[in-house]
Amino acid sequence: MRVVCIGGGPAGLYFGLLMKKENPEHHITVIERNKPYDTFGWGVVFSDATMDNMRAWDRETAQEIESAFNHWDDIEVLIKGRRMRTTGHGFVGIGRKKLLNILQARCEALGVELVFEREVDSDLEFPDADLIIASDGINSKIRNRYRDAFKPDLVMRPNRFIWLGSKKRFDAFTFDFRRTEHGWFQAHIYKFDEDTSTFIVETTEDVFAAHGLDKADETKSIAFCEQLFSEVLNGGTLMSNARHLRGSAWLNFGRLICGKWSHFNGKSHVVLMGDAAHTAHFAIGSGTKLALEDAIELTRQFRNLGDTPDKIPAVLAAYEEVRSVDVARIQNAARNAMEWFEVVGSRYADTLDPEQFMYSLLTRSQRISHENLRLRDKTWLENYERWFAARAGINVDPDGPPVPPMFTPYRVRGLTLQNRIVMSPMAMYSAKDGVPNDFHLVHFGSRALGGAGLIFGEMTCVSPDARITPGCLGLWNDEQAAAWKRMVDFVHTTTPAKFGLQLGHAGRKGSTRVAWEGIDQPLHEDNWPLISASALSYTANSQVPRAMTRADMDQVKADFVAAARRGIEVGFDILELHCAHGYLLSSFLSPLTNHRTDEYGGSHENNARYPLEIFRAIRAVWPDDKPISVRLSCHDWTEGGNTPADAAIYAKMFKDAGADLVDCSSGQVSKDEKPVYGRLFQTPFSDKLRNEVGIATVAVGAISEADHANSIIAAGRADLCALARPHLADTAWTLHEAAKIGVKSIAWPKQYLSAKMQYETNLARAAAGPRPG
Ligand SMILES: Cc1cc2nc3c(=O)[nH]c(=O)nc-3n(C[C@H](O)[C@H](O)[C@H](O)COP(=O)(O)OP(=O)(O)OC[C@H]3O[C@@H](n4cnc5c(N)ncnc54)[C@H](O)[C@@H]3O)c2cc1C
Ligand SMILES: Cc1cc2nc3c(=O)[nH]c(=O)nc-3n(C[C@H](O)[C@H](O)[C@H](O)COP(=O)(O)O)c2cc1C
Repeated sequence: MRVVCIGGGPAGLYFGLLMKKENPEHHITVIERNKPYDTFGWGVVFSDATMDNMRAWDRETAQEIESAFNHWDDIEVLIKGRRMRTTGHGFVGIGRKKLLNILQARCEALGVELVFEREVDSDLEFPDADLIIASDGINSKIRNRYRDAFKPDLVMRPNRFIWLGSKKRFDAFTFDFRRTEHGWFQAHIYKFDEDTSTFIVETTEDVFAAHGLDKADETKSIAFCEQLFSEVLNGGTLMSNARHLRGSAWLNFGRLICGKWSHFNGKSHVVLMGDAAHTAHFAIGSGTKLALEDAIELTRQFRNLGDTPDKIPAVLAAYEEVRSVDVARIQNAARNAMEWFEVVGSRYADTLDPEQFMYSLLTRSQRISHENLRLRDKTWLENYERWFAARAGINVDPDGPPVPPMFTPYRVRGLTLQNRIVMSPMAMYSAKDGVPNDFHLVHFGSRALGGAGLIFGEMTCVSPDARITPGCLGLWNDEQAAAWKRMVDFVHTTTPAKFGLQLGHAGRKGSTRVAWEGIDQPLHEDNWPLISASALSYTANSQVPRAMTRADMDQVKADFVAAARRGIEVGFDILELHCAHGYLLSSFLSPLTNHRTDEYGGSHENNARYPLEIFRAIRAVWPDDKPISVRLSCHDWTEGGNTPADAAIYAKMFKDAGADLVDCSSGQVSKDEKPVYGRLFQTPFSDKLRNEVGIATVAVGAISEADHANSIIAAGRADLCALARPHLADTAWTLHEAAKIGVKSIAWPKQYLSAKMQYETNLARAAAGPRPG
């Protein structure tokens, strides 16, 4: 085959050499506009896994790269006068020039033709090529030429960064955070050869502009950074080698995804590789890794499917299928890390204690969890656990096993929860006339015995026509109150768990069948009239509600207050006002469901007016020493709906009105929603509200392991973790998870004690693997 790689960065060179090695008959040319030793940038980092992959494909280059590597294990964080260090993080760094020189030399040794100082304008310059690799980087001319075919989606991110170098030697991957009168800057620093370190300085656009850096040339920018980071530089200077760049030396990162990776130009097949196809932010340093792995995968497909011109279409399709999945995974992690650095100044640097700030930094991509950190640096993690536990009020034994964050107590007003695990509200549709029965007693009782610090009742309706279905629970009469009291008393007298009441009104989502008979479908008969913020039905099939009148508002408010008063008599420990999921109060908060033109619609202030009126009314009767939380849909997942930024505005309003916690859910407001599900998918909302608004939060949604809960709580992304479905699957989720992570200090109900040790021993045996013989 005749192969031309346009662009001699890591992608083009590595693919060239791998293919030549596979079959020396191929005629392969790599064309690069720069001189052989002329390149931008400083060092790049790899993980051990990338090296294993490279070793398997070309031992020679892998060996040369390894011998040029600088390996380091430590991460050091400087912030607010503190210098903190952790170990076990295993990175290797190499100079970009050195890497390219190794690849260039190997190409030459294998017979790949290298052409330098030639700028390619078009792929059509190579009509005899069977295959053209567009490895021409982020600004790929070749990709841009076939924009319609490749469908590039390039988003310029808001932060500014400058890629500098320093001759000062750093013996750890160092992050230095510095506050100026205008805001925060951070430096990402790592050594990549004996005497040189990469030194990337980053800040937000407004801080960048406030310092006049938009008008500063490179020399002034470097002087500014040297001054700002003088402590960590300790007399060292900064250097640039980006002189070929036009305009500002400060760049914005461009996040690139392509809809399609290959195209036939009439003569040759053109395929994207490396930064031309995708980018991953330097916050997790994976751009070069992705470029090299693209090269490996394309070579693998030629090996598997055949390396003759007729096989090219099948090979390119297989390459794209495999790589687009892997790349999306890395881009996801890179996005979390990138976003962390974009908000670090406004969200974490001022608010979190240095210890917790460091934990948040280390887990920023959400790929490294609590237990990963324990594997990397047990001493650091255990000290952090002790710090966290002491802050939560535990008398810490410096020599004893530390208590993981999810098992620390949580205090809010007069309420103390023994741990941070909450059973989330879950409608069971199993009541008659709103009255709890034996099913509910067993349902709640068994979960309370199962170790959660707090169990929430399901959405409890404030009047008969506030119900979602005829099977929903209520608290509008004394019979219901008495049945609730029996359950709450059982929980209080038999377990250490606390019991929460979630009060709600179904609004336009009411008068429907129980879940297993057709969710959101109107009743076959005996439907009751619905009310909502506006007269908009939920589905095409649903009843159209009446837009609430002031008289309706007064009635519903009175119902909420009466239910809250009954809740006090029953003895609930905490009240949650359900303002999520498209039910009545949520219908006011979302512009999708609130089309009112009076003082109850049209702006954040107006949309929140009625929900806040209810909140204030129940806060006025609810005892001062008992907390109230508010459940919000923090994202409508639909064009024109609320986003986390709107949720932050509402959270602030509820906070100012006296709310203690926001329970951060999302969705179910519109049938057009397109939620992006995934592990911990709603935790970012909790993180945002907690750290930007300064209100305690509950994280919920696809949290299913102790490791998840510990990571969330430890990083300060939430104060409590609520789990719904895991509690349906396992009544004793908390006790079981404690045993799984080896925490033996969590008390089991005395009646069940004989099972505890056996359960722990069986787990330990299973973890140790099969016995020999
Ligand atoms: C600040 C910063 C820090 C980074 N840190 C890391 C890190 O630590 N680890 C990591 O893995 N990655 C890092 N990266 C990313 C990494 O540099 C890229 O992802 C990687 O170089 C991609 O390789 P590539 O071969 O696809 O593209 P490039 O390395 O961009 O190579 C493209 C080549 O094509 C040439 N070219 C372009 N157009 C033409 C043309 N028309 N004719 C001829 N030649 C052309 C260019 O001169 C260039 O040499 C970082 C990036 C930045 C901006
Ligand atoms: C069967 C079921 C019923 C639910 N009912 C309610 C409810 O009454 N009130 C509420 O706010 N959320 C309700 N939810 C949502 C859960 O509280 C929770 O937010 C959601 O299931 C995500 O958590 P998970 O991933 O741990 O299941 C319900 C969820 C399930 C599975």
